[in-house]
Amino acid sequence: MRWLQLSIQAPPEYVEPLTYLFNTHGDSSASVEVAGGYNPDEGEKPDPTAWVVIRGWLPLDSTTQSRKTAIDVGVRLIKHLVDLPELEEKVISDEEWSNQKFRPIKVGKNLVILPRSAEYKPNVNDVLVELDPGLAFGTGHHPTTLMCLEEIEKVIRSGDNFLDLGCGSGVLSIAALALGAKHAIGLDVEQQAVTSSLNNISEAGFENQATILWGSIPHPQLNQKKFEVIGANISANVLIELAGPLLSCLQDDGVIVSSGVLETRLCDVTEAFRAAGGEVQSTRQIEDWTASTIIRVNGLV
Ligand SMILES: C[S@@+](CC[C@H](N)C(=O)[O-])C[C@H]1O[C@@H](n2cnc3c(N)ncnc32)[C@H](O)[C@@H]1O
Repeated sequence: MRWLQLSIQAPPEYVEPLTYLFNTHGDSSASVEVAGGYNPDEGEKPDPTAWVVIRGWLPLDSTTQSRKTAIDVGVRLIKHLVDLPELEEKVISDEEWSNQKFRPIKVGKNLVILPRSAEYKPNVNDVLVELDPGLAFGTGHHPTTLMCLEEIEKVIRSGDNFLDLGCGSGVLSIAALALGAKHAIGLDVEQQAVTSSLNNISEAGFENQATILWGSIPHPQLNQKKFEVIGANISANVLIELAGPLLSCLQDDGVIVSSGVLETRLCDVTEAFRAAGGEVQSTRQIEDWTASTIIRVNGLV
């Protein structure tokens, strides 16, 4: 089978209507490509105004023309609001099509990160993390998310409270809840991450077990709450700045799973947690990225 790939560049605020069009008239798996070129470990952020590329795929068959006409009409309507370039078209093979897509990925022992549009027949022990990250970070494919997921799977216990600092797409919260956590609180300083986490958590069926808030710690709505497990896949600079507040949110016997730290900054992060009353228990690495588990040294926090 072959596919008609459609792509268009647009400002981020037009991602929703365009992915809606591509999903409604295409194969329901529109993708959004965000420009890279920034280093979060140095406190750099993606430019929130940078244009993104939205892609959709139509099966090449007797329905292609009518599907494409419907998308064309929608794009023309959006063009009344913003000056967009023309839709780009490319015919691709089945193999190219499946390589372009965000596919299910197995992580750790039983976790499976599953794009909502993917066809997947679960195995009996699979713990599914259904996701549509949109513009927020966290598909499970990045080494930092991957290592966090694996460590969370090892430490989370049924009934735990989970704090997800820098929740992005909500991937860590959904995994913690799917693994048996009682409740998750996600915080993020980016509004699109808050929106994306709320959508994903609700689509995954955990809306009654999660609270997603804009902001960081300390946060007035946390009200001195303590957590058995904290996931913090952020960056060296933020972890150094928030080492004390993170340890203050941790139960006496709790664990922080941190990541987002380049190998070259690991010593600085380890030292910041030590100075704040914590202890790095384990560290692992994929490519240049590291992830650590951190506990409290009782009496010091
Ligand atoms: C690398 S992404 C991680 C997303 C997801 N948790 C994952 O593991 O894939 C880091 C997230 O942290 C957020 N962030 C950055 N600084 C923050 C801060 N000081 N407090 C809370 N969130 C922050 C960013 O907006 C971003 O969504």
